[in-house]
Amino acid sequence: MTNQFEQRLDRRQFLKTALAVAGGITTFGVNPSFAGAGQEPAHWAFLSDTHIAGDPDHKFLGFCPYQNLREICHQIEAGPPDGLVVTGDLARLRGHAEDYKNLRELVAPIAQKRPIHLATGNHDDRENLLHAFQKPNYPTWTVNGKHMLTVDAGPVKLIVLDSLLFVDLPWGRLGKGQRRWLEMYLHACDEAPVVLMLHHPVLGMDALWDAKSLLKIVKPMAKVKAIVYGHSHRFAFSEYEGIHLINLPATGFTGYSSQPVGWVEARLAKDEGLFTLHALEGNTRLNGQTTRLRWRS
Ligand SMILES: [Fe+2]
Repeated sequence: MTNQFEQRLDRRQFLKTALAVAGGITTFGVNPSFAGAGQEPAHWAFLSDTHIAGDPDHKFLGFCPYQNLREICHQIEAGPPDGLVVTGDLARLRGHAEDYKNLRELVAPIAQKRPIHLATGNHDDRENLLHAFQKPNYPTWTVNGKHMLTVDAGPVKLIVLDSLLFVDLPWGRLGKGQRRWLEMYLHACDEAPVVLMLHHPVLGMDALWDAKSLLKIVKPMAKVKAIVYGHSHRFAFSEYEGIHLINLPATGFTGYSSQPVGWVEARLAKDEGLFTLHALEGNTRLNGQTTRLRWRS
């Protein structure tokens, strides 16, 4: 598996190899054909840091992550999103099997109708996560033990990356193999706008260990329009060389009184993205606010 990615492959060879490779199990739910193949804006629910514990009544900092996610799942189920992506820290601390069992039960009603994609965070256990969720319908990739996923979502492409380095320690890293896979994939895929999704930020104190290397890859790739991540439990928009950086709020809890707990409804078009905050708890002042981001050309 790894050796295949060590070889230099041209575009046709890479895609041919890609179709033969299946590895990651970070996705489940209905068949991908549901998620729309047209050019209408894709409508997705972006969540992060659900921090679901084995005990549904577990509370932290005055928040109950289980209750929060249950309410959010009701909102998504009743709303228009075509699918759901959670950018890691799915579990409370160490990714126990019972954490994922609860998570699976919470999102099950959505999974009956829509695809769900789960990235690893530093509070996840990759093996337990993979064990808890069924095999995907989407193209998935495994390189050096890291699991990636690509989703054709209407006019855009979502690429979900794996930044888990050590369970229950804060740092994250993609690693050389995953970075190399990403670079080759970006060169080989079509020109649809790409949104990268992962747990760790790419700038600042909490950034990925190999954030500089990642940014070096994506900076010249004009098709990469945005990077979406969580980890900080803070909701924020910033920019790097025209690439939008979107820090999702946590759904589980936040330690900052200025911050919301909630999720982001994304409408992704060929030339822009609209991002609406659904603030459930914490600071709800920005609830319902939509941020419009034009893609770089
Ligand atoms: Fe977290």
